[in-house]
Amino acid sequence: MSTTKLTRRVTIPELAARKGGQPIVVLTAYTAPIARLLDPHVDALLIGDSVGMVLHGMDDTLGVTLDMMVLHTQAVKRGSTRAAIIADLPFGTYQSSPQQAFDASAKLLAAGAQAVKLEGGRTMAATISFLVERGIPVMGHIGLTPQSLHTMGGFRVQGRDEAAAEKIIDDARAITEAGAFSVVIEGVMEPLARRITETIAIPTIGIGASADCDGQVLVTDDILGLTGDATPRFVQRYADLAATIDEAARKFADDVRARRFPGKAHIFFPKAAQ
Ligand code: KIV
Repeated sequence: MSTTKLTRRVTIPELAARKGGQPIVVLTAYTAPIARLLDPHVDALLIGDSVGMVLHGMDDTLGVTLDMMVLHTQAVKRGSTRAAIIADLPFGTYQSSPQQAFDASAKLLAAGAQAVKLEGGRTMAATISFLVERGIPVMGHIGLTPQSLHTMGGFRVQGRDEAAAEKIIDDARAITEAGAFSVVIEGVMEPLARRITETIAIPTIGIGASADCDGQVLVTDDILGLTGDATPRFVQRYADLAATIDEAARKFADDVRARRFPGKAHIFFPKAAQ
């Protein structure tokens, strides 16, 4: 009899059904080893286009390509067995037409994603319906939408005045009506995020939003202390891996320079010489 523990992935309908229930836990992952470590703890792994800034040293997410997202999605799929896998549609691969969005999404689903995430509100509603009607689950992303960096004039908290807040609520409603199964609300005033969560029927996933959202997402490298000293206010650091890596690299360099490494245990000798 096999003793293999049976595991299966969290499904998108299961995530959608968590509205108002136990908070949904989402972290970003871009590689197989990190996906493997996060997998037991989270409900979903997001292959965010933040990969461009976090792993590839880009200034923003605008240069991230679909090929990059496909490669990172494949890696995260290989490294995980139970968390749902959601992949970002990168800038320029979905905005020009619903057909373009379908073609890009199909590549991410073929790479292992169960759903795609795209940025934008009412203007993306027709695209979201088009994808959902064709079997592609969609997570929306409203508020601070990093791909609209230049329209926003920087990474700024959104919805500060009543008119701007009303527009974001309208975006949330439009996305819900279009059939999205969930929506990320990023970088908005807390009362607005709470109001949206109370208003719409799909789970809201907050980042710099509200503790009352139906779930929370953060960039994993931020919580691990790997993304430098300028941690955004909405991030809680749970580890200081930068310091750990710095110390490990320094110790290795010291050992090599002092000829302490490699030791006898790390090298191979012919039998006769042992
Ligand atoms: O790209 C990303 O990682 C994201 C999350 C921060 C929500 O969109």
